[in-house]
Amino acid sequence: MLSPEENEMLCRVGPGTAMGNLMRQYWIPALLSSELPKPDCDPIRVMLLGEKLIAFRDSLGRVGLIQNHCPHRGASLFFGRNSDCGIRCVYHGWQFDVHGNCIDMPNEPKESDFKHKVKAVAYPCVERGGLVWAYMGPRKTPPPLPDIEVNQLPEGEYAIIPTMLECNWLQTVEGEIDTSHAGFLHFGSIQPEDTQEGTFLHYTVKDRAPRYAVVDTEYGCMYGAYRPAKPGYMYWRIANFLFPFFTQSPEGILGHHVITNAWVPMDDHHTMSFIMIRKSPDQDNWPKRHPLLGDSDKYPTVQTPMLPNTSDWFGRFRSALNSSNDYGLDRERQREGLDYSGIKYLPVQDRAVQESMGPIYDRTQEHLAVSDAMVIRVRRRLLSAIRALADKNITPPGVAQPEVYRTRSGSVILPEGVDWVEATRELRQAFVEHPEVLAQRP
Ligand code: FES
Ligand SMILES: [Fe+2]
Repeated sequence: MLSPEENEMLCRVGPGTAMGNLMRQYWIPALLSSELPKPDCDPIRVMLLGEKLIAFRDSLGRVGLIQNHCPHRGASLFFGRNSDCGIRCVYHGWQFDVHGNCIDMPNEPKESDFKHKVKAVAYPCVERGGLVWAYMGPRKTPPPLPDIEVNQLPEGEYAIIPTMLECNWLQTVEGEIDTSHAGFLHFGSIQPEDTQEGTFLHYTVKDRAPRYAVVDTEYGCMYGAYRPAKPGYMYWRIANFLFPFFTQSPEGILGHHVITNAWVPMDDHHTMSFIMIRKSPDQDNWPKRHPLLGDSDKYPTVQTPMLPNTSDWFGRFRSALNSSNDYGLDRERQREGLDYSGIKYLPVQDRAVQESMGPIYDRTQEHLAVSDAMVIRVRRRLLSAIRALADKNITPPGVAQPEVYRTRSGSVILPEGVDWVEATRELRQAFVEHPEVLAQRP
C-alpha cells in the first residue's frame, strides 16, 4: 500500500514532476526507426513523458524530435513540409533543423537576423537496434546509452513488438514483475496432466504458489521465484527490473533468453511498450506461440490483432481487442476452461487486467501479500532514487554506468539448497553464449 503522495510521486511523469525529472535523466525509447522509413518522409506525432512532439527524418536521414507548437505563433509542426534538411511550418514558412535551430524565416525582411534568436525545443536522438532513443534531460552532453544486449544485435536477429497500453506506466511494469499471475491469468486452465513432464510449464501449473527471493542490484532489482522441480531440484524463474522502466522476463532459458521490455510513459494515462527479443531456434514460431509452450490450442496465442496506425497522438500500435470490446472476452471459453480468463491472446490478458485497474490505480486501496515482494521492492527503489535526486542531486542508478545493463533473465533448474544468485552469475551475463543450456532443455 502507498500513501496518496507516494502514488502520485511514482506515477506522474510530466515536466517538473518528481518521476518526470528522474526519467529525464535517462535515454528514452521514443519510436521505432521504421516509423520514419526514409529521408524527408511524413512526420509523426509522438507523445512522450506528457510532451507533444513531432518526429521527422531530415534529408540527411537524421531524426529530429521537436516541439509540436511552432515557436512563432504555435501552429502544429505536424502539418510541416519536411524537406531541405528541416521541417517548415506551413503557417508562415519558418523552418527548423533537427537541433531546433531556425534555419529560415522567409516572411521577415532579408536584413533581419531574428532567426538566430529563435530556437525550438528539440531533443537529441540516436538510433540503435531498430529504436530511436531520445534524451530529454538537463545535461549538455547526454550520458551513454544503456548497454542493453538485445538492442545491439545485428539486423535480422531480433524482433521488436510495439503496443500501446491505455493506463499508467507503473501498472504495466508491476504487471511484468509479478510472476505469480502467470499460473492463473495465463495458464490457470492448464492442468499438470496437460503438460509434458519436466517442462517449465509443468512445474508452473503443478505449484501455483511460488516462493520469492528479491535482491537489489546496480541496475535495479532482481527476483527469483522458486518451486519444486524433479526430486532434489528447484525450478527458478529469474527476472529483472532495470531503471527507470525496463524489465527482463523469465519466460525463456536462462543463458539463452535475450529480452528487454521498455514500458515508456507517453503521458500519465498511456504507455508504449516495446518488447525487444532475440529470435532463436527455440522460438521458431515466435511470436505466434509462446516460446516455452509449443503448439497447442489450449495455450494462449501471443500474436494479437492490431488496428491500423493513425496520425493521432494515441493512434500508434493499438490492439484491436481493447476496453471498448471487453478485450474479446468470451464467457463460454471461460466457463469451459479453455482460457482461465476467457480472453484468448496472452498479451491481451495482461493488458485487460492492467487497464481495468483504471488510468492510475489508487494504491491506497490495495492489500499487498507475500507474492508482491518484487513490486514492493521496486517501488521502494524508485522512491528512494526520486528523493535522492530531488534532495541531494544524486544521479540515479545506471545513468552513468551503461555496463550495469549487461544482464539477462530466464528460467533454470537448480539443485535444492544452492545460492541462486551465485549459481546463476555466469548465465545471467549478457553478450556470452552458453550453447550447453539449449541441450539441457526439457
Ligand atoms: S506559426 Fe509557424 S511560422 Fe508562423
Ligand atoms: Fe502476464
